[in-house]
Amino acid sequence: MKKKIECIGVLTSGGDAPGMNAAIRAVTRTAIAEGFKVKGIYRGFEGLLRNEIQEFTTENVSNIIQRGGTILKTARCKEFQTVEGRKVAYDNMVAQGIDALVVIGGNGSLTGARIFAEEYDVPCIGLPGTIDNDLYGTDSTIGYDTTLNTIVECVDKIRDTATSHERIFFIEVMGRDAGFLAQNSAIASGAEAAIIPEDSTNADQLEQFIGRGIRKSKSSSIVIVSESPKCGAMYYADRVKQEYPEYDVRVSILGHLQRGGSPSASDRILASRLGVGAINAILEGQRNVMIGIRDDEIVYVPFANAIKNNKPIKKELINVLGILSI
Ligand code: F6P
Repeated sequence: MKKKIECIGVLTSGGDAPGMNAAIRAVTRTAIAEGFKVKGIYRGFEGLLRNEIQEFTTENVSNIIQRGGTILKTARCKEFQTVEGRKVAYDNMVAQGIDALVVIGGNGSLTGARIFAEEYDVPCIGLPGTIDNDLYGTDSTIGYDTTLNTIVECVDKIRDTATSHERIFFIEVMGRDAGFLAQNSAIASGAEAAIIPEDSTNADQLEQFIGRGIRKSKSSSIVIVSESPKCGAMYYADRVKQEYPEYDVRVSILGHLQRGGSPSASDRILASRLGVGAINAILEGQRNVMIGIRDDEIVYVPFANAIKNNKPIKKELINVLGILSI
């Protein structure tokens, strides 16, 4: 028979995302309301290894719903990727009396949770916490909407100077291997093009952009580029400088400012619903699933699907940008 769950540990892991605090608050308050004990684990899985764990009351999560970042801190823990590391984490978990884990994080964090859950038969529930929106099975991830809005605010500002100087700007945004932030911020900011990894099998995206005669009717151009170790904004700007020296080109890499700031209302609501969903899932005996929202309904997505399946970008979004940027 499975051990009765009395105490739930909650942690945030990987890159922080606006709305993680709202999720911690929802998990803590719902768990306490349902009669569980809650323990906050600091610095992600690293906190499990180092025993940086504190019992939470509802007060620990007061006044945090509006704050960016994560009060639990976060980390990417190399040691947890080893069998020995996970053993230490498990021993500490048992010693602390933690019976189940809620892991708020992205792809890497949920992969860690999945391996740990399989190795030690520990009930783990994942919440999609990443600005990248790259987890399959949920329409959105916690932090994505806020970051999208932050990018659009920045692009609007860059547009002013781009127009004044009649320049092409390549603006690099985050997203790791996913182009959701680039594609949708391009649509929302009226950019002329987006260069995203999902479209890389097609013709040269720069050629397509230039080939559309982008300068004929416009006094400036904004191209949003998904970050990439080899083909980021600098790569495309250098190419334009060499291949089309008549254009005046600049680069803006938005960087970590994209991860900061107060979460949007959408992210706060999403995080709150998912946090309540996590505790409901535990009450229903679910384990090793990510809580997602699809078509406005809470869904349980097995870790393997959430992590392994590539979440596609709708072709329609690519068409929308193409049509509207003529
Ligand atoms: O996964 C979230 C993310 O912000 C990615 O978009 C980005 O590639 C990465 O984290 C940056 O990580 P770090 O903060 O460690 O530089």
